[in-house]
Amino acid sequence: MIFGAILAGGVGSRMNISDMPKQFLPLGDKPIIIHTLEKFIMCERFDEIYVGVHPNWIGHMGDLIYKHIKVNKERIHVVEGGSDRNSTIMNIIHEIEKDYGESEEHYIITHDSVRPFVSARIINENIDNVLKYRACDTVIPATDTIVTSLDGEKISEIPNRAWMYQGQTPQSFQINLLKKWYSELTEEEKCILTDACKIGVVRGGDVHLVRGEVSNLKITTVPDYKIAQAMIGGNLID
Ligand code: CTP
Repeated sequence: MIFGAILAGGVGSRMNISDMPKQFLPLGDKPIIIHTLEKFIMCERFDEIYVGVHPNWIGHMGDLIYKHIKVNKERIHVVEGGSDRNSTIMNIIHEIEKDYGESEEHYIITHDSVRPFVSARIINENIDNVLKYRACDTVIPATDTIVTSLDGEKISEIPNRAWMYQGQTPQSFQINLLKKWYSELTEEEKCILTDACKIGVVRGGDVHLVRGEVSNLKITTVPDYKIAQAMIGGNLID
């Protein structure tokens, strides 16, 4: 089975313009997370779609689905998110396995709730690649030169830009493979590894690349939100 997993357990502390987590802020005529969820609902290859939401906002999420999603609601499951992004993914996997059991044939396409412009092409290529390779990440080639600095004061290295990419989502996994990688982490590694694909990379696993798009931006800060509003052609709230 193929499961969509929308990650919405965060509180958006870097956005800092509302008490509401950023995924619930308006973008045009509906909340950011509804745009994102609609992209997943439109893909008929998903058997079920799970949304991992901060415990304080589960009721609100249910209200939004009732208000904005008129068709194909039966595939959507709202579940509790976790204390960090990977815990939200693991909670969703736990719920999937409660509902559908464990299987080598279960795959999960995880996506940030705050990337509302993900395209059908990106979602479909994630599904194609995860079925073939068991793990894949969505990336775009870096256009700026990437500079590394270990102390934040002087340059340590300037890697060859041809090898540099910026990570986006979806990130997709055979569920049993991701569980195996995650179970092998120490508690310290769990705190450091905020990126789900990095869990695979540090475990020596192969994670294939899917071509992302610049428009698949993540709304992290107020300037990102303004760009997203400009892209949708709506008015700003602030
Ligand atoms: N996320 C999640 N569960 C968490 C933390 C984050 O599902 N415990 C989700 C967010 O809701 C978001 C995505 O992961 O859709 C990307 O994370 P980020 O942009 O860092 O979101 P926040 O954690 O909400 O933002 P901040 O770090 O500014 O607080």
